[in-house]
Amino acid sequence: MLAPMEGVTHPGYRELIASYGGVGVVCTEFVRITRAAVNRRMIEGEVVRTEHAALSVQVMGDDESNMALATEWVVAGGTDVVDINLGCPAPNAVRKGVGAAMLARPEVLTRVVRAMRGRTPGPLSAKMRAGVDASDRAVTTARLLEAAGVDFITVHPRRSIDAYRGRADHRIVKSIKESVGIPVVGNGDLWYAAEAIALMKTSGCDAVMLGRPALRNPFIFAQIAALRAGKPAPRPDGAALLAHVHAYVAATRPRLRASSDVVLCGLLKEQLRSVLASLVDGERITRELVRQGDVDSILARLESRLRHVSAADLDLGPDPPRGSLSLPCARGGDAASSA
Ligand SMILES: Cc1cc2nc3c(=O)[nH]c(=O)nc-3n(C[C@H](O)[C@H](O)[C@H](O)COP(=O)(O)O)c2cc1C
Repeated sequence: MLAPMEGVTHPGYRELIASYGGVGVVCTEFVRITRAAVNRRMIEGEVVRTEHAALSVQVMGDDESNMALATEWVVAGGTDVVDINLGCPAPNAVRKGVGAAMLARPEVLTRVVRAMRGRTPGPLSAKMRAGVDASDRAVTTARLLEAAGVDFITVHPRRSIDAYRGRADHRIVKSIKESVGIPVVGNGDLWYAAEAIALMKTSGCDAVMLGRPALRNPFIFAQIAALRAGKPAPRPDGAALLAHVHAYVAATRPRLRASSDVVLCGLLKEQLRSVLASLVDGERITRELVRQGDVDSILARLESRLRHVSAADLDLGPDPPRGSLSLPCARGGDAASSA
Protein backbone atom coordinates (compact mmCIF):
# COMPACT_ATOMS: atom_id res chain seq x y z
CA MET A 1 0.00 0.00 0.00
CA LEU A 2 1.16 3.51 -0.78
CA ALA A 3 0.84 5.44 2.49
CA PRO A 4 -1.28 8.56 2.86
CA MET A 5 1.02 11.58 2.73
CA GLU A 6 -0.32 15.07 3.11
CA GLY A 7 0.83 17.34 0.31
CA VAL A 8 2.30 14.40 -1.63
CA THR A 9 -0.18 11.68 -2.56
CA HIS A 10 -2.33 13.62 -4.99
CA PRO A 11 -4.14 11.61 -7.70
CA GLY A 12 -1.36 12.05 -10.28
CA TYR A 13 1.30 10.88 -7.84
CA ARG A 14 -0.82 7.90 -6.79
CA GLU A 15 -1.33 6.91 -10.43
CA LEU A 16 2.36 7.29 -11.20
CA ILE A 17 3.56 5.12 -8.33
CA ALA A 18 0.88 2.51 -8.99
CA SER A 19 1.89 2.38 -12.66
CA TYR A 20 5.32 0.99 -11.66
CA GLY A 21 3.57 -2.14 -10.34
CA GLY A 22 3.37 -4.02 -7.08
CA VAL A 23 0.95 -1.60 -5.39
CA GLY A 24 -2.41 -2.96 -4.28
CA VAL A 25 -3.90 0.12 -2.65
CA VAL A 26 -3.08 3.82 -2.83
CA CYS A 27 -4.20 6.24 -0.12
CA THR A 28 -5.30 9.83 -0.17
CA GLU A 29 -3.91 12.26 2.36
CA PHE A 30 -6.29 12.86 5.25
CA VAL A 31 -9.52 14.74 4.65
CA ARG A 32 -10.24 16.76 7.78
CA ILE A 33 -13.84 16.37 8.93
CA THR A 34 -14.74 19.01 11.51
CA ARG A 35 -17.85 19.63 13.56
CA ALA A 36 -18.90 22.35 11.13
CA ALA A 37 -21.26 21.51 8.29
CA VAL A 38 -19.61 19.08 5.88
CA ASN A 39 -19.48 19.80 2.19
CA ARG A 40 -20.55 16.81 0.12
CA ARG A 41 -19.03 18.04 -3.11
CA MET A 42 -15.66 18.70 -1.46
CA ILE A 43 -15.64 15.27 0.19
CA GLU A 44 -16.71 13.38 -2.93
CA GLY A 45 -14.08 15.34 -4.86
CA GLU A 46 -11.40 13.48 -2.91
CA VAL A 47 -12.45 10.22 -4.52
CA VAL A 48 -10.21 10.02 -7.57
CA ARG A 49 -9.47 6.46 -8.54
CA THR A 50 -6.32 5.31 -10.28
CA GLU A 51 -6.12 2.76 -13.01
CA HIS A 52 -3.64 0.39 -11.42
CA ALA A 53 -4.63 0.10 -7.75
CA ALA A 54 -7.55 0.23 -5.36
CA LEU A 55 -8.21 3.52 -3.56
CA SER A 56 -8.37 4.24 0.17
CA VAL A 57 -9.75 7.61 1.24
CA GLN A 58 -8.67 8.71 4.70
CA VAL A 59 -10.81 10.86 6.96
CA MET A 60 -9.78 12.50 10.22
CA GLY A 61 -12.14 13.83 12.85
CA ASP A 62 -14.01 13.07 16.05
CA ASP A 63 -17.53 14.14 15.22
CA GLU A 64 -19.58 10.98 15.03
CA SER A 65 -22.31 12.15 12.71
CA ASN A 66 -20.04 14.08 10.33
CA MET A 67 -17.57 11.19 10.14
CA ALA A 68 -20.51 8.92 9.31
CA LEU A 69 -21.71 11.30 6.61
CA ALA A 70 -18.21 11.60 5.16
CA THR A 71 -17.96 7.81 5.08
CA GLU A 72 -21.25 7.51 3.25
CA TRP A 73 -20.23 10.12 0.70
CA VAL A 74 -16.77 8.77 -0.11
CA VAL A 75 -18.32 5.35 -0.55
CA ALA A 76 -20.97 6.85 -2.84
CA GLY A 77 -18.13 8.57 -4.70
CA GLY A 78 -16.60 5.16 -5.46
CA THR A 79 -13.76 4.60 -3.00
CA ASP A 80 -12.73 1.01 -2.28
CA VAL A 81 -11.64 1.58 1.32
CA VAL A 82 -12.48 4.18 3.96
CA ASP A 83 -9.74 4.75 6.53
CA ILE A 84 -9.77 6.68 9.78
CA ASN A 85 -6.63 8.62 10.75
CA LEU A 86 -5.43 7.74 14.25
CA GLY A 87 -1.86 8.80 13.70
CA CYS A 88 -1.51 12.46 12.85
CA PRO A 89 0.92 13.93 15.42
CA ALA A 90 0.61 17.58 14.30
CA PRO A 91 0.09 19.88 17.30
CA ASN A 92 -3.00 21.36 15.71
CA ALA A 93 -4.67 17.95 15.35
CA VAL A 94 -3.59 16.81 18.80
CA ARG A 95 -4.98 20.01 20.40
CA LYS A 96 -8.32 19.32 18.76
CA GLY A 97 -8.31 15.73 20.00
CA VAL A 98 -8.17 14.16 16.52
CA GLY A 99 -5.58 12.06 14.65
CA ALA A 100 -3.26 10.32 17.11
CA ALA A 101 -5.02 12.06 20.02
CA MET A 102 -8.03 9.83 19.37
CA LEU A 103 -5.94 6.95 20.73
CA ALA A 104 -6.36 8.51 24.18
CA ARG A 105 -10.15 8.83 23.76
CA PRO A 106 -11.33 5.21 23.56
CA GLU A 107 -15.05 5.94 24.11
CA VAL A 108 -15.17 8.60 21.41
CA LEU A 109 -13.08 6.39 19.13
CA THR A 110 -15.49 3.49 19.54
CA ARG A 111 -18.50 5.69 18.83
CA VAL A 112 -16.95 7.26 15.73
CA VAL A 113 -15.80 3.93 14.26
CA ARG A 114 -19.20 2.32 14.93
CA ALA A 115 -20.94 5.25 13.24
CA MET A 116 -18.64 4.91 10.22
CA ARG A 117 -19.18 1.14 10.17
CA GLY A 118 -22.91 1.74 9.91
CA ARG A 119 -22.45 3.67 6.67
CA THR A 120 -20.25 1.37 4.62
CA PRO A 121 -20.64 -2.27 3.70
CA GLY A 122 -17.16 -2.25 2.17
CA PRO A 123 -13.71 -2.28 3.75
CA LEU A 124 -13.25 0.08 6.69
CA SER A 125 -9.77 0.47 8.11
CA ALA A 126 -7.93 2.38 10.81
CA LYS A 127 -4.37 3.68 10.60
CA MET A 128 -2.98 3.96 14.10
CA ARG A 129 0.20 4.97 15.83
CA ALA A 130 1.32 2.95 18.85
CA GLY A 131 0.00 5.55 21.28
CA VAL A 132 0.24 9.18 22.25
CA ASP A 133 3.10 9.23 24.76
CA ALA A 134 3.37 5.49 25.52
CA SER A 135 2.92 2.29 23.51
CA ASP A 136 1.52 0.09 26.25
CA ARG A 137 -2.09 0.37 25.08
CA ALA A 138 -1.40 -0.36 21.41
CA VAL A 139 -2.83 -3.88 21.57
CA THR A 140 -5.86 -2.71 23.60
CA THR A 141 -6.57 -0.05 20.98
CA ALA A 142 -6.26 -2.56 18.16
CA ARG A 143 -8.73 -4.86 19.90
CA LEU A 144 -11.10 -1.96 20.46
CA LEU A 145 -10.95 -1.12 16.75
CA GLU A 146 -11.64 -4.71 15.81
CA ALA A 147 -14.62 -4.85 18.18
CA ALA A 148 -15.95 -1.55 16.78
CA GLY A 149 -15.99 -3.12 13.32
CA VAL A 150 -12.91 -2.21 11.29
CA ASP A 151 -11.86 -4.75 8.67
CA PHE A 152 -8.13 -4.15 8.93
CA ILE A 153 -5.65 -2.07 10.86
CA THR A 154 -2.50 -0.33 9.66
CA VAL A 155 0.12 0.16 12.34
CA HIS A 156 2.78 2.87 12.30
CA PRO A 157 4.59 1.74 15.44
CA ARG A 158 5.78 5.04 16.83
CA ARG A 159 4.23 7.16 19.54
CA SER A 160 2.68 10.46 18.55
CA ILE A 161 5.28 12.35 20.60
CA ASP A 162 8.03 10.70 18.53
CA ALA A 163 6.73 12.33 15.34
CA TYR A 164 9.26 10.72 12.92
CA ARG A 165 12.22 10.42 15.31
CA GLY A 166 13.85 7.15 16.28
CA ARG A 167 12.94 3.90 14.61
CA ALA A 168 9.56 2.31 14.13
CA ASP A 169 9.25 -0.52 16.67
CA HIS A 170 8.03 -3.37 14.51
CA ARG A 171 7.59 -5.64 17.52
CA ILE A 172 4.37 -3.72 18.09
CA VAL A 173 3.11 -4.82 14.67
CA LYS A 174 3.79 -8.41 15.74
CA SER A 175 2.02 -8.00 19.09
CA ILE A 176 -1.04 -6.54 17.42
CA LYS A 177 -1.10 -9.19 14.71
CA GLU A 178 -1.04 -11.87 17.40
CA SER A 179 -3.90 -10.21 19.29
CA VAL A 180 -6.53 -9.55 16.64
CA GLY A 181 -8.31 -11.71 14.10
CA ILE A 182 -8.38 -9.17 11.27
CA PRO A 183 -5.59 -8.37 8.79
CA VAL A 184 -2.80 -6.07 9.96
CA VAL A 185 -0.69 -3.86 7.71
CA GLY A 186 2.83 -3.06 8.92
CA ASN A 187 4.29 0.39 8.32
CA GLY A 188 7.28 2.51 9.24
CA ASP A 189 10.91 2.70 8.08
CA LEU A 190 10.73 -0.13 5.55
CA TRP A 191 13.42 1.43 3.39
CA TYR A 192 14.32 -1.67 1.37
CA ALA A 193 12.18 -4.32 -0.31
CA ALA A 194 13.89 -7.04 1.73
CA GLU A 195 12.95 -5.24 4.96
CA ALA A 196 9.31 -5.13 3.94
CA ILE A 197 9.34 -8.86 3.24
CA ALA A 198 11.19 -9.56 6.48
CA LEU A 199 8.55 -7.66 8.43
CA MET A 200 5.79 -9.75 6.87
CA LYS A 201 7.66 -12.90 7.86
CA THR A 202 8.67 -11.94 11.37
CA SER A 203 5.49 -10.15 12.45
CA GLY A 204 3.01 -12.18 10.41
CA CYS A 205 1.47 -8.95 9.09
CA ASP A 206 -0.64 -9.36 5.99
CA ALA A 207 0.64 -6.42 3.97
CA VAL A 208 2.97 -3.46 4.20
CA MET A 209 2.42 0.23 3.69
CA LEU A 210 5.24 2.48 2.53
CA GLY A 211 5.46 6.25 2.58
CA ARG A 212 8.87 7.95 2.66
CA PRO A 213 10.61 4.82 1.30
CA ALA A 214 8.43 5.09 -1.82
CA LEU A 215 9.39 8.74 -2.22
CA ARG A 216 13.04 7.72 -2.10
CA ASN A 217 12.63 4.62 -4.25
CA PRO A 218 9.49 4.77 -6.40
CA PHE A 219 10.21 1.25 -7.67
CA ILE A 220 10.23 -0.38 -4.25
CA PHE A 221 6.75 -1.90 -4.63
CA ALA A 222 7.77 -3.53 -7.91
CA GLN A 223 10.85 -4.87 -6.13
CA ILE A 224 8.75 -6.31 -3.31
CA ALA A 225 6.40 -7.95 -5.82
CA ALA A 226 9.34 -9.45 -7.72
CA LEU A 227 10.97 -10.84 -4.57
CA ARG A 228 7.69 -12.31 -3.38
CA ALA A 229 7.32 -14.03 -6.75
CA GLY A 230 10.83 -15.47 -6.41
CA LYS A 231 12.18 -13.27 -9.21
CA PRO A 232 15.14 -10.88 -9.18
CA ALA A 233 14.17 -7.39 -8.12
CA PRO A 234 14.46 -4.65 -10.76
CA ARG A 235 17.43 -2.33 -10.15
CA PRO A 236 16.65 1.22 -11.23
CA ASP A 237 19.47 3.30 -12.69
CA GLY A 238 19.87 7.06 -13.03
CA ALA A 239 17.93 7.16 -16.31
CA ALA A 240 14.96 5.45 -14.60
CA LEU A 241 15.05 7.98 -11.77
CA LEU A 242 15.27 10.81 -14.26
CA ALA A 243 12.25 9.49 -16.14
CA HIS A 244 10.42 9.26 -12.82
CA VAL A 245 11.15 12.90 -11.99
CA HIS A 246 9.90 14.01 -15.42
CA ALA A 247 6.76 11.90 -14.96
CA TYR A 248 6.32 13.44 -11.49
CA VAL A 249 6.42 16.94 -12.97
CA ALA A 250 3.97 15.96 -15.71
CA ALA A 251 1.61 14.40 -13.14
CA THR A 252 1.81 17.32 -10.73
CA ARG A 253 1.61 20.30 -13.08
CA PRO A 254 -2.08 19.78 -13.98
CA ARG A 255 -2.95 19.78 -10.27
CA LEU A 256 -1.79 23.39 -9.99
CA ARG A 257 -3.10 26.60 -11.41
CA ALA A 258 -1.56 27.78 -14.68
CA SER A 259 0.62 30.37 -12.94
CA SER A 260 1.93 27.99 -10.30
CA ASP A 261 5.45 27.31 -11.53
CA VAL A 262 6.71 28.58 -8.19
CA VAL A 263 4.58 26.03 -6.34
CA LEU A 264 5.66 23.25 -8.71
CA CYS A 265 9.28 24.28 -8.24
CA GLY A 266 8.85 23.98 -4.45
CA LEU A 267 7.18 20.57 -4.71
CA LEU A 268 9.85 19.34 -7.11
CA LYS A 269 12.64 20.42 -4.74
CA GLU A 270 10.90 18.53 -1.94
CA GLN A 271 10.72 15.40 -4.15
CA LEU A 272 14.37 15.70 -5.08
CA ARG A 273 15.44 15.68 -1.44
CA SER A 274 14.00 12.14 -1.29
CA VAL A 275 14.77 10.92 -4.80
CA LEU A 276 18.44 11.96 -4.70
CA ALA A 277 19.05 10.41 -1.28
CA SER A 278 20.11 7.22 -3.04
CA LEU A 279 23.18 8.86 -4.60
CA VAL A 280 26.44 8.89 -2.70
CA ASP A 281 26.78 12.65 -3.22
CA GLY A 282 23.00 13.18 -3.22
CA GLU A 283 23.06 15.89 -0.58
CA ARG A 284 25.52 18.01 -2.50
CA ILE A 285 23.56 17.61 -5.75
CA THR A 286 20.32 18.41 -3.95
CA ARG A 287 21.85 21.60 -2.51
CA GLU A 288 22.96 22.57 -6.01
CA LEU A 289 19.54 21.89 -7.52
CA VAL A 290 17.47 23.65 -4.89
CA ARG A 291 19.40 26.84 -5.65
CA GLN A 292 17.83 26.87 -9.13
CA GLY A 293 14.90 29.22 -9.55
CA ASP A 294 12.67 27.36 -11.99
CA VAL A 295 11.55 23.89 -12.97
CA ASP A 296 13.30 23.84 -16.35
CA SER A 297 16.71 24.74 -14.92
CA ILE A 298 16.32 22.07 -12.25
CA LEU A 299 15.45 19.45 -14.84
CA ALA A 300 18.32 20.50 -17.11
CA ARG A 301 20.88 20.15 -14.31
CA LEU A 302 19.32 16.94 -13.10
CA GLU A 303 19.77 15.47 -16.57
CA SER A 304 23.54 15.84 -16.40
CA ARG A 305 23.70 14.56 -12.83
CA LEU A 306 21.52 11.46 -13.29
CA ARG A 307 21.48 10.36 -16.93
CA HIS A 308 24.61 8.21 -16.80
CA VAL A 309 24.49 6.95 -13.22
CA SER A 310 24.50 3.16 -13.19
CA ALA A 311 22.26 1.03 -10.98
CA ALA A 312 25.35 -0.06 -9.05
CA ASP A 313 26.00 3.55 -8.04
CA LEU A 314 22.54 3.99 -6.53
CA ASP A 315 21.47 2.73 -3.12
CA LEU A 316 18.22 1.41 -4.57
CA GLY A 317 18.81 -2.31 -4.40
CA PRO A 318 16.31 -4.57 -2.66
CA ASP A 319 18.66 -5.06 0.32
CA PRO A 320 20.17 -2.56 2.70
CA PRO A 321 23.87 -1.91 2.04
CA ARG A 322 26.01 -4.69 3.47
CA GLY A 323 22.87 -6.85 3.60
CA SER A 324 22.25 -6.19 7.30
CA LEU A 325 18.62 -6.43 8.33
CA SER A 326 18.08 -4.49 11.51
CA LEU A 327 14.41 -4.91 12.18
CA PRO A 328 13.75 -4.99 15.92
CA CYS A 329 11.20 -7.79 15.49
CA ALA A 330 13.79 -9.90 13.67
CA ARG A 331 15.50 -10.08 17.02
CA GLY A 332 12.33 -11.22 18.83
CA GLY A 333 10.89 -9.84 22.05
CA ASP A 334 7.51 -8.59 23.10
CA ALA A 335 6.79 -5.07 21.97
CA ALA A 336 3.88 -4.27 24.18
CA SER A 337 5.77 -5.12 27.35
CA SER A 338 9.03 -3.42 26.46
CA ALA A 339 7.61 -0.34 24.69
C1 LIG B 1 4.90 14.20 4.19
C2 LIG B 1 4.10 13.20 4.98
C3 LIG B 1 2.73 13.36 5.09
C4 LIG B 1 1.96 12.42 5.80
N1 LIG B 1 0.58 12.56 5.82
C5 LIG B 1 -0.17 11.58 6.41
C6 LIG B 1 -1.59 11.59 6.32
O1 LIG B 1 -2.22 12.48 5.70
N2 LIG B 1 -2.27 10.59 6.95
C7 LIG B 1 -1.62 9.57 7.63
O2 LIG B 1 -2.28 8.69 8.19
N3 LIG B 1 -0.28 9.53 7.70
C8 LIG B 1 0.45 10.49 7.09
N4 LIG B 1 1.81 10.40 7.11
C9 LIG B 1 2.44 9.23 7.76
C10 LIG B 1 2.71 8.11 6.74
O3 LIG B 1 1.51 7.65 6.16
C11 LIG B 1 3.46 6.93 7.40
O4 LIG B 1 2.66 6.34 8.39
C12 LIG B 1 4.78 7.35 8.02
O5 LIG B 1 5.51 8.21 7.14
C13 LIG B 1 5.65 6.13 8.37
O6 LIG B 1 5.84 5.33 7.25
P1 LIG B 1 7.15 5.40 6.30
O7 LIG B 1 8.34 5.16 7.17
O8 LIG B 1 6.90 4.34 5.29
O9 LIG B 1 7.20 6.79 5.72
C14 LIG B 1 2.59 11.33 6.44
C15 LIG B 1 3.97 11.19 6.34
C16 LIG B 1 4.72 12.09 5.62
C17 LIG B 1 6.22 11.88 5.51
